[in-house]
Order: sequence, then structure tokens, then C-alpha cells
Amino acid sequence: MTATRLDGKLFAGRVRERVADEVTKLKSEQGITPGLAVVLVGEDPASQVYVRSKGKQTIEAGMNSYEHKLDEQTSEADLLSLIDRLNNDAAVHGILVQLPLPKHMNETAVINAIAPAKDVDGFHISNVGRLNTSQKSMVPCTPLGCLLMLRDHHGDLSGLNAVVIGRSNIVGKPMAQLLLNESCTVTIAHSRTKDLPDVIGRADIVVAAVGRPEMIQGDWLKKGATVIDVGINRIEVQNADGTVKNRLVGDVDYASAEKIAGAITPVPGGVGPMTIACLLANTITACCRANGIEPPKDLGV
Ligand code: GUN
Repeated sequence: MTATRLDGKLFAGRVRERVADEVTKLKSEQGITPGLAVVLVGEDPASQVYVRSKGKQTIEAGMNSYEHKLDEQTSEADLLSLIDRLNNDAAVHGILVQLPLPKHMNETAVINAIAPAKDVDGFHISNVGRLNTSQKSMVPCTPLGCLLMLRDHHGDLSGLNAVVIGRSNIVGKPMAQLLLNESCTVTIAHSRTKDLPDVIGRADIVVAAVGRPEMIQGDWLKKGATVIDVGINRIEVQNADGTVKNRLVGDVDYASAEKIAGAITPVPGGVGPMTIACLLANTITACCRANGIEPPKDLGV
């Protein structure tokens, strides 16, 4: 039997609708419009695309979007001074500084200058520490998106064996911590892990975030496992006429995996669209907390 395809595009649309409902409620019942500030330094083309998309979806959800585009040569002091202004602006509930930053800037210092309560990326050291000690925190968007999809598919995750492949600060580590907080038994695998197929073969849940195209093979999986593929890799494939085209693939070999898995996210159209949807969800969470309102449970942890 072929695996259920977990449609992230569809699910992200549902999350955005829930966010828009919450915005309507906050406006009509509290007179509050949630606001998200996105800061872009320089002209990295991929970052420009992301920032445009974030701004568009923020406005579509009924929130205020504040875009700050700074010159590549902007000094770190000027960026920190903008962050300080945004930290103290009551109309701004979430702040995101698009990464990567130009080389002359200290990314860690910049991230840690954002007020933790407005850190909708969940990258601030205080939010990392809070997540790791099971305290109320802001949670990184991509792992949050994976968790919402897993909860939607499984309901209770408690007691399941989860293997996260990849140990990055942005995806692997927070993902593992979120799954641990859901009472999964969690293994973090990485490039030095011995006998990876054997480790993956014991998992009820596999989250792949290694950045290696189609590395994880279907016959490594336990039958019926749920596979969340965070990888977005561009590979070159040859057409019949010998010309070459680009194709997006995940970290999992989808064709072989869908024959063994119980459920799997495709690439594209899986986890990808969930990241911005969760950024909007985090802005709602931050806005509610700033105003002493309990945030909606289904949009966070
Ligand atoms: N650059 C690529 N992805 C992200 C993200 O999730 N947050 C930020 N701040 N920058 C990014």
C-alpha cells in the first residue's frame, strides 16, 4: 500500500485561515491588530523572495506588516538601534531579522538583541533555554510546522520512537526537544551516526533535516512509519533530449519511501509552506501574550 501523502500546502492554508480568524477576533473583541516587523539587510535574492512572501501572507491574514529594508553596508550598531526601536514599539508584536546577515555582522548578537517575547523565530538564547526546560517560549517555525502536522496525523505522540536526522540549531535540535516534550523517545542522528539505516529502522516517526538530496532510502524505514522531510535540495536532472533542468527534492528518496511509510510529506508541498504559516501563528501567540490573553492552543505548543 502507498503511504498517505501529508499535504503541507493544504495544511498551511488551514493554519493561515485559523490565524486570520484569530486576527478578526483580536480586532473586534480587543481592538488589537497584530503586527509583524521583518528586517532585511542587503539584497540576497533568496532572502528577498522570502521577505516578500512573509509580508504578503502577513497582510492577507489581516495583520500589520512592517518591512525594513536596509543597505548591505548598514553598520551593526544601526541595525541594533532599529531592533531597539521595534522592541519598544507597542504596535509590533513579532520581529524577524532575515538570515543570513552580511559578513560584517555578528548574527548571534543581533538575534539576542530582539526582545525574547517578540522573537517569532524562536532563535533567541532565552527562548532556546525555555524550550529546553519545558517553559513557555517562542518556538522555531519549521519544527513547529512539523509538530503541528504530526499532531494532526497522529493525535497523541506519547511513547512513539522518533528519530531526527540533523542537529542544526534551527531545525534538528528544537525538533528533537519538541518531540521529547510530547513524550516521544527521541534519537538525534547526524553525519557521524553509525549504522543510520538501523537507527532509522526503529523509528515510528522520522524527521529528516540533513540537507542531502534523497539520502534516506525507503528500505531503511520501519513499515508504516511517518516521515517528515524538511530537506529542500535543488538537483540537476537530464531531460530525454540531453538538456538539463533543476528539480527540488527532499532528504528522503520519496519513490522508495512511499512504498514502506504509512505517511510522508512530499517535496515540494510538504513542510515548506508550513514555515511562514507558523511565523504568522507565532505572531498571534506573541500578540496574545503581550496583551495578557491566552494564545490559541492549536497554533502553538
Ligand atoms: N533565513 C532562512 N530561513 C529563515 C528563517 O526561518 N528565519 C530567519 N530569520 N531567516 C531565515
